[in-house]
Amino acid sequence: MSRASLTKDPREVAGMFDAVAGRYDLTNDVASLFQIRMWRAVTRRAVGARKGMTVLDLAAGTGASSAEYAKDGAKVVACDFSTGMLAEGRRRRPQISFVAGDATALPFADETFDVVTISYGLRNVQGTVQALREMYRVARPGGRIVIAEFSTPVSPLLRWLYSFYLGTALPVAGRLVSSNTQAYDYLGESILAWPDQRSLAALMQEAGWRAVGYKNLTGGIVAVHRGAKPFPRS
Ligand SMILES: C[S@@+](CC[C@H](N)C(=O)[O-])C[C@H]1O[C@@H](n2cnc3c(N)ncnc32)[C@H](O)[C@@H]1O
Repeated sequence: MSRASLTKDPREVAGMFDAVAGRYDLTNDVASLFQIRMWRAVTRRAVGARKGMTVLDLAAGTGASSAEYAKDGAKVVACDFSTGMLAEGRRRRPQISFVAGDATALPFADETFDVVTISYGLRNVQGTVQALREMYRVARPGGRIVIAEFSTPVSPLLRWLYSFYLGTALPVAGRLVSSNTQAYDYLGESILAWPDQRSLAALMQEAGWRAVGYKNLTGGIVAVHRGAKPFPRS
């Protein structure tokens, strides 16, 4: 399989997330062997939300990460295009402002947010660079981007074990525990097809982001990328 993001009809992606919305947070914990809690804590520190800041949490799903940024004092907008995920998020986290929107055509004015962030969502968006450009457009000058996403393990042994887990063990486990086998197949396939750390950093730069860097977590299974929108030259 090529390492370009997996192409799928956006309506099919939205429908798949609608179907898993009810058990989504629990599935994340189990499929990541509870590592997601540590990955979210690192992302939360990178976002550095605080009172007076406006944060866009894109592809926010049920708002698990949005709720943390709100607890840190920021005004948070959680945006997603799956009506099922939005409904589950509004039910579970009524304190968060959920907005329906497509990452490739965001329903926000230019230069609205201090931080734009996306956790485990960019891989699912059909049109990676367009989404990065939209995030750039709605960030204010001097604003920041934080992306948490599955990535490529650094060590060859971990890479081999992980691709076995994603390509073979996870789909089999999915067939045993869930009727939605398509979602488990897609999870593994989309991670294996996703650009590695350096390639994603290059795509961020292509979209205009500067001071781009990343931090590997759990040996590179996840990477947290960061960047900044420069001030215009006078
Ligand atoms: C794996 S979930 C991540 C949810 C959440 N950010 C989290 O950390 O748990 C991916 C989310 O991306 C959303 N998504 C995929 N493509 C999108 C798009 N083009 N615009 C908005 N949301 C999108 C899906 O609906 C889904 O809720």
